[in-house]
Amino acid sequence: MDPYDKVFAESYIRILGQGAYNPKFVERFYDLFLASSSEIAERFANTDMSRQKTMLHDSFTSLLDFARHKQASPQMEVLARVHGPKAHNIPPKLYELWLDSLLQTVAELDPGFNREVELAWRLTLAPGITYLQYAYTHPVE
Ligand code: HEM
Repeated sequence: MDPYDKVFAESYIRILGQGAYNPKFVERFYDLFLASSSEIAERFANTDMSRQKTMLHDSFTSLLDFARHKQASPQMEVLARVHGPKAHNIPPKLYELWLDSLLQTVAELDPGFNREVELAWRLTLAPGITYLQYAYTHPVE
């Protein structure tokens, strides 16, 4: 069996190419994420979603970078502050809906999707999500 980081990298390339922006991917993700709970939809009620979609792509790179190096970049610190209790106040449990929506998107857009691919994505994104969840309960002043 291939290591999960290889399985993830191959799936990522099938969907996004070499880091290219795939509008279909982010659009489908946000449709699913906003529909996943009224709590999510309410939080984006006043958001310019086209700007948000471009930013998701960039922040995705920050999560992958964190998974690789296990060191918080300035971008990760900004993400933690933006979602933290003093800003948008996003409780840790909502990240589950974020990840489920993302995996549903991957399932639809990756022709090679299977349970190994799903686990590879979850493992790869877990460190960045844990960082943001932890930062919520332990904010840096
Ligand atoms: C790992 C998961 C997540 C990533 C990578 C992510 C990414 C981002 C990025 C890049 C921004 C823009 C930051 C800026 O303005 O500089 C943002 C803002 C925001 N995020 Fe997230 N996010 C995540 C999880 C969540 C979750 C679970 C929620 C729950 C509802 C959420 C709600 C919001 C809201 C409300 C904003 C502000 C939108 C606005 O400017 O109106 N995010 N997020």
